[in-house]
Amino acid sequence: MQTQSLSTSTGDILHAAHLLRAGELVAFPTETVYGLGAMVFNESAVRAIFTAKGRPSDNPLIVHCADRTDVERVAINIPPLFDALFERFCPGPLTMLLERHIAVPDAVTAGLNTVAVRFPAHPVAETLIRTAGEPLVAPSANRSGRPSPTQAQHVMNDLAGRIAAVIDGGSCEVGIESTVLNILTNPPVILRPGSITKEMLEDVVGYEVVHGSYAIKTSNDGISEVSFPTLAPGMKYRHYAPEARIILVDSMAEALQTARGIEEQRGNLVWILSNSVKKPEHGIFLLSEQTLYAMFRNADAQNVGTLILVCDPHVRNNEGLMNRIQKAASRK
Ligand code: TXA
Ligand code: MG
Repeated sequence: MQTQSLSTSTGDILHAAHLLRAGELVAFPTETVYGLGAMVFNESAVRAIFTAKGRPSDNPLIVHCADRTDVERVAINIPPLFDALFERFCPGPLTMLLERHIAVPDAVTAGLNTVAVRFPAHPVAETLIRTAGEPLVAPSANRSGRPSPTQAQHVMNDLAGRIAAVIDGGSCEVGIESTVLNILTNPPVILRPGSITKEMLEDVVGYEVVHGSYAIKTSNDGISEVSFPTLAPGMKYRHYAPEARIILVDSMAEALQTARGIEEQRGNLVWILSNSVKKPEHGIFLLSEQTLYAMFRNADAQNVGTLILVCDPHVRNNEGLMNRIQKAASRK
């Protein structure tokens, strides 16, 4: 199969929608990362996503909607909290768990009774969903185990020959995947951190929102901690780490000192990524949500031996970015 490279022209989006309606897979830009789209109610197209990506079948997909009314087609018993969060953050990089509608194929939810829903804030994604005529399931458009794609070329590098088309909408604005929030538990649980933070969510929810893996439940006789499996299934898989050794440091001074030591000792290529870089030069590049995944791909292409990441307070306070950095550094 020859993968077509499409533009964001109306004609090309119409063509992409035709491909989707014929059961093909089309990658498209969103504000977070590129998604690999299929029609939500076409079970064989949904299954083809898992094959194209090499994705384990127990990892459920996010349903991408264009309008609030689309949600009724894939979910039931939608709680008021959904609408409160929808009003504030949608369209945008927030995915919410809802009770699954019986019409949603098992392949989408990996057999779970919940369905993850989001509204991408990208004109191409919105138009594509509307033109296709039904919500689109879309995981990140990378091969499983690779960094999420933030440019059309990344999708081509991973999936050329395996999918029908890629719509090239340039670089993604946000650069890391959406925040995944379970609103069916009390308190709500962040299953995957992203650029919509715990504080931003709490501002709407009105009480505490907790991070993954556990929740605190208050009972009449005091406070008890309840443990239950609350991570998104996808978070258990090994996440992408570049071939390079990753070292986390606190400051640029520490980074430069560490780099000198390594270069003298091993003579291998060292890159430094820092949040305060204005102009990239001499192996020092910008560390940000927008650049992280592209830098991982570039580092591998250039055979970089060591990547030093400057985690200053600004970076440490960014929960979405720090989550991706720690996963890469721990190779989990
Ligand atoms: O920003 C994003 O969310 C991007 C763009 C393309 O929209 N999509 C994305 O999809 O990152 P994916 O498939 O790479 O990650 C989806 C995450 C996985 O960790 C998956 O386990 C979790 O969402 N997830 C999906 N449905 C779920 C459900 N019903 N319950 C718990 N976790 C779910
Ligand atoms: Mg992914």
